[in-house]
Amino acid sequence: MCGIIGILGKSPVAASIVDGLKRLEYRGYDSAGVATLEPTGLARRRAVGKLKNLDALLQLSPLGGHAGIGHTRWATHGKPSEANAHPHAAGPVAVVHNGIIENFRDLRAELSAEGINFEGETDTELVAHLVNREIRGGAEPIAAVEATLKRLEGAFALAFLFEGRNDLMIGARRGSPLAVGYGDGEMYLGSDAMALAPFTNRIAYLDEGDWVVLNRAGATVRDEAGKIVKRQVQTSLASATMVEKGSYRHFMAKEIHEQPDVLSHALSRYLDMAQGTVRLPDALPWDFADVSRVTLTACGTGYIAALVARYWFETYARLPVDIDIASEFRYREAPLDPKSIALVVSQSGETADTLAALRYCQANGVRVGSVVNVSTSTIARESDIAFPMVAGPEIGVASTKAFTCSLAVLACLAIAAGRKRGVLSADEERRLVGELMRVPRLVAEALNTEPKIERIAKVLTKASDVLYLGRGTNYAIALEGALKLKEISYIHAEGYAAGELKHGPIALIDETMPVVVVAPKDRWFEKTVSNMQEVQARGGRIILLTDADGAAHAGESEAVLVMPTADPIAAPFVHAIPVQLLSYHAAVMMGTDVDQPRNLAKSVTVE
Ligand code: G6P
Repeated sequence: MCGIIGILGKSPVAASIVDGLKRLEYRGYDSAGVATLEPTGLARRRAVGKLKNLDALLQLSPLGGHAGIGHTRWATHGKPSEANAHPHAAGPVAVVHNGIIENFRDLRAELSAEGINFEGETDTELVAHLVNREIRGGAEPIAAVEATLKRLEGAFALAFLFEGRNDLMIGARRGSPLAVGYGDGEMYLGSDAMALAPFTNRIAYLDEGDWVVLNRAGATVRDEAGKIVKRQVQTSLASATMVEKGSYRHFMAKEIHEQPDVLSHALSRYLDMAQGTVRLPDALPWDFADVSRVTLTACGTGYIAALVARYWFETYARLPVDIDIASEFRYREAPLDPKSIALVVSQSGETADTLAALRYCQANGVRVGSVVNVSTSTIARESDIAFPMVAGPEIGVASTKAFTCSLAVLACLAIAAGRKRGVLSADEERRLVGELMRVPRLVAEALNTEPKIERIAKVLTKASDVLYLGRGTNYAIALEGALKLKEISYIHAEGYAAGELKHGPIALIDETMPVVVVAPKDRWFEKTVSNMQEVQARGGRIILLTDADGAAHAGESEAVLVMPTADPIAAPFVHAIPVQLLSYHAAVMMGTDVDQPRNLAKSVTVE
């Protein structure tokens, strides 16, 4: 997750760009850079490390241009170095980028075959070359960017500047956020409103797939199909310290929609995307090759993330897993093997039961890793190693982005364990890493089904009880769906392993009870379809969450939500989206306090 800023100004912009970048440093700070349009042409200053290094470089070697773009980087493709720092340039084009270009290997090979040399290893640089290729072919900058965007796969935000075009800047948003700021004879682009707060409070948020052409008089926004669209200009309340809702009605909606972006950030922290490998801290307090067992424990949504991870550790690392809710685990008096490790998952890092579970493990000689969102929390500090989920502040009490970001970290840990234990070959690791790199885009595609999800959510609001079913990792997603619905809409819901249906919940089925079935076409699919038939034979009404292949083979359901097709390691991320959105829209329709549901707390520091 990098930070982007762009200014078409009336006076030199470099200092303002650095000012805006300082507000984006939370998104990454391994290198930073600025490009401006000088009388001599495009000029860049880039520096490794924190922004103060870029600041110092600009003092020594100032820039005076009135149009510029800037970037603070969190490395995805290629190590932090000056050559890999943004802005990247090719011919008259400079670009800054946040996110992941998934098909960068293919595109880079295509350009290399044409004799193009790359300065660094980033996926961004090839975007500059693609646009430059169009310009060399005679295209105007706007057409060149439009053609290039069509070639790119992934979840990203981009800002472009063009030599010789002092009154032009182009931005694009797919999966990663980008806001347009309206000043007085000046225009801005920024990753969020906070970055633009020193300059303007008049902000328009780009929608998914939008791209925007700026000049100092204003902005023209086009949608993915190239049609000119209007995006409302709002007054932002952003200040340096506030986390705000942007264009969303609730923090929960904002956090759900942030997932492509924060997942890019989380994944880029734990993956070396250029090599196709997992990249964990060098000094792990254990060697996965010698670990006998993993104990997973957490509360609430963290526990459900751990449940998904159980399948990954067993499948990809062949590691035996013991999993329990922290409040149970801490009192179970479980005998622990000192050769085992424990992983605790906690958004806040302060949950009392999870902390007690951590201490129990350590007291029994077991090393503990924590997957946490708040890096300064007690759990992060007390664990032997903390793996930050880097989801950014989560304000909505019902956890959403922290769930999928924990999954990202846990998937990387499971793959690393599999490699170390000789279960996964280098090729298998590369394949799984490739699948994880696709996750932000797939999640963005899943978010596009929101209008249909909203319609289906209406069915849930009429029910007093809802059953969620799934097998394998889909069982965990069923549990998460039921938990989310209970938490914020107050509709009673149960998540069940589909195979357990006939051992109890089937007695509840009648025409009043919606049954949400999570069943993409995976190895559990046929079995779950049999369970769906058992439900339908008793008059039950099925809402099926599946993929295209599953929809074609599942038979009739009352409603079907078709999610993007995903590899088994990516499917839990994708299917988390509809269960989050179903509960969100049901709650909005029920008129509950979505962000602060009754009786719940974001951080539970008591038993
Ligand atoms: C509370 C929150 C949940 C969260 C759980 C565990 O119940 O409302 O959203 O999943 O605590 O919190 P943690 O911070 O440890 O992940």
